[in-house]
Amino acid sequence: MSKEAFDVLIIGSGLAGLVVAETIGRHLDVGIFSKGQTIDSNSYRAQGGVAAAITTEDCWGNHWKDTLEAGDAHNDPGTTATLTKAGRDAVQMLVELGVPFDRDDRSRLQLGKEGAHKYPRIVHAGGDRTGASLIRTLHKRVRKHVQFFNEETVLSILKEKGNCVGVKTVDRQSDIHFRYAAHLVLATGGAGQLFTQTTNHPFATGDGYALAYRAGAILRDMEFIQFHPTLLATETGTAGLITEAIRGAGAQLVTVDNHRLMANHPKGDLAGRDVVARAIHTARRHGEDVFLDVTPVSNLAERFPGVASLCETYGYSSRVPVAPGAHFMMGGVVATPDGETNVSGLYAVGEVASTGVHGANRLASNSLLEAVVFGRRVGRKLLERPGKVFGNPVEQPLKKSPSPPTKTEIRQMMDEACGVTRDEQTLREAGDFFRLSFQSSFKSDDPEIQERHNMSLVAGMITNAALRRTESRGSHYREDHPGKDASWQGVSLKHRQKEEVP
Ligand code: SIN
Repeated sequence: MSKEAFDVLIIGSGLAGLVVAETIGRHLDVGIFSKGQTIDSNSYRAQGGVAAAITTEDCWGNHWKDTLEAGDAHNDPGTTATLTKAGRDAVQMLVELGVPFDRDDRSRLQLGKEGAHKYPRIVHAGGDRTGASLIRTLHKRVRKHVQFFNEETVLSILKEKGNCVGVKTVDRQSDIHFRYAAHLVLATGGAGQLFTQTTNHPFATGDGYALAYRAGAILRDMEFIQFHPTLLATETGTAGLITEAIRGAGAQLVTVDNHRLMANHPKGDLAGRDVVARAIHTARRHGEDVFLDVTPVSNLAERFPGVASLCETYGYSSRVPVAPGAHFMMGGVVATPDGETNVSGLYAVGEVASTGVHGANRLASNSLLEAVVFGRRVGRKLLERPGKVFGNPVEQPLKKSPSPPTKTEIRQMMDEACGVTRDEQTLREAGDFFRLSFQSSFKSDDPEIQERHNMSLVAGMITNAALRRTESRGSHYREDHPGKDASWQGVSLKHRQKEEVP
């Protein structure tokens, strides 16, 4: 067992965590935790790019409007303006940090187009390897100044007199550590691993939501889970993301008879992600396979090398079978753009946070933008607040917990109840299944068991929220309540997540 004190501890080494570290690492004593290595994050896997209005025919107001429209009027308009206004500066900052964005032969940034964007405004690197480029660039910069705790899992948040004061962790030798800090930043990403089909990294098990909940943080909008429409479909499941930017470059969704799947939608193949995912889900539920016809895309291997290599591995060169998979959590820990939560000393940034910018369905490529813009703001806020490190908080003793459900059990229940479409009966069954997980005293020093406690608690929160929202909006589609109900519109603390499954 070891003890150490820092100014700031960051949980998660994806883009949001690294941008916070880059902003403060030269000035403060910073530690950063990863359950694996630095490349083990959803950010590293991101393909599309960073959305930002940077051309003369575009402006942040257009980007703002597209974000609100995609979010189905559930966004916080002010926070969304803060985000979209900052797009140009964010890209400039990344260029200055050395991110090798793709450029045309006149050295101008190349811009991709994705679903629900009116203009091409996605800057990208390495074709479809934007996330990897960003993480490599940031990691190279911050590793000189910041202490990385790789393969170390955060088991719980330590509190003293209502303040967050550090974390209890376990490393890969099963040694327990107590590490203290004046400020704790959650940058843990999402929870795609609650579902069988997902684009997310195996570590995306919702730990940040569970840690925050147990520390007394308010969460909201957990029912809004974005399913990416196009994962490569295999005989047994799915095998990875096929970026939406490929549809922006001309690829089309077709049925087995080559009919355009999205022919009747005004935005066609570039309709919002929730709409396209539902169309594919519905077709597949009726036994019809859906394909992405990539033949209209010129220079596929050059423009989308990652996707081209995935398709080649599975033997596809023209029509690629596709299916939706869990991709992004719009809800999460309620936080300001500076990352502040209702718990003193606890900050949240990136996917784990709910600042209100994504509404009920995130606009494509706004997540990397959010990580950069709000990550920098969190860092600046921390620089204003040199804190005092508290010592020796009392850790609540472990209570004997029943064994949590297995990952397979959790995923089967979530696939059934909280997938692309939902209804009351299956949500109630899932609610009963996850009810016990709300006992916040359930803890284990075994990281694998603790991860399952976390997954089952977060599954309970999602089920609870999806059951309560008796309307359909954005990514949340209730077959028994297919219309919108204006009384549910807009992010609101009245919908916060603090109670048990009814
Ligand atoms: C994609 O490239 O299709 C995913 C990008 C995103 O989730 O914004």
